[in-house]
Amino acid sequence: MPELKGTKGFQYLEGSRFDRLSMENRQKPAITKVEPFKYYPHSDKIPLPRSWNIAQENITSLLQHRRSLRKYSTKPVSLEHLAFLLWASQGITGQAGKYLFRTAPSGGALYPVETYISAHSIEGLDAGLYHFDAEHFALDRLTEQNEAEAVAQACLDQKFMAQAAVVFLWTGIFRRAMSKYGDRGMRYILLDAGHICQNLLLAAEAVGCGGCPVGAFYDNELNQLLQIDGEEESILYAASLGRKILPRR
Ligand SMILES: Cc1cc2nc3c(=O)[nH]c(=O)nc-3n(C[C@H](O)[C@H](O)[C@H](O)COP(=O)(O)O)c2cc1C
Repeated sequence: MPELKGTKGFQYLEGSRFDRLSMENRQKPAITKVEPFKYYPHSDKIPLPRSWNIAQENITSLLQHRRSLRKYSTKPVSLEHLAFLLWASQGITGQAGKYLFRTAPSGGALYPVETYISAHSIEGLDAGLYHFDAEHFALDRLTEQNEAEAVAQACLDQKFMAQAAVVFLWTGIFRRAMSKYGDRGMRYILLDAGHICQNLLLAAEAVGCGGCPVGAFYDNELNQLLQIDGEEESILYAASLGRKILPRR
């Protein structure tokens, strides 16, 4: 399959393979480290509620019923549910020495993925772009205007994204993982994003919401909206989320 082998994707996988010989000759990557958390010291910080009244749901039922959802109720999502969803996807749940562990696993416990949200219809939260501060369980406010249309347009004009109550946007801060793992670190960053998104979608199911993972977007447009450079940090993945439309009785 020469045409497959000629792709950049295949070449990347090949270039980042572990084999016994390369492991023996492995050297520390010449990539400088960065901070484990991203801070927005000049932004308004909105604390998130830390207790939620969530009905206990059976994991079998959550797995059975999760389906990508692209049509949402017009009712807003509560701030309590948003806080639960942020916790479920990236909340801090434990500590061992300097490591703060989270709900989703991360290669080397380096947590290279940052979470942002584009809030469109959340009760008690102004519409706009926010960064999730996992360390302090809070939101950093980035913009004052509703970016629903801009986000949807940047996602190849997938209109349902603008109808969602909130869109989650996940970026990678590449040095966090690549300063330890070199080329192979990029694989781990992408795998981390997958774990995070699945946690979100299962948690959504537990609170009567649903969402759709989105990998189709113009990277530069989302990076620009988030005011990140696309090199040190770049968009990886997104998911829309909203309340389910309940069937009429
Ligand atoms: C990496 C990835 C990227 C995706 N990107 C999109 C997307 O851009 N737009 C969309 O409508 N669905 C997208 N999806 C959702 C898939 O279409 C969906 O998961 C698939 O059809 C299986 O259906 P289910 O999620 O309901 O089980 C994506 C899913 C994944 C895992």
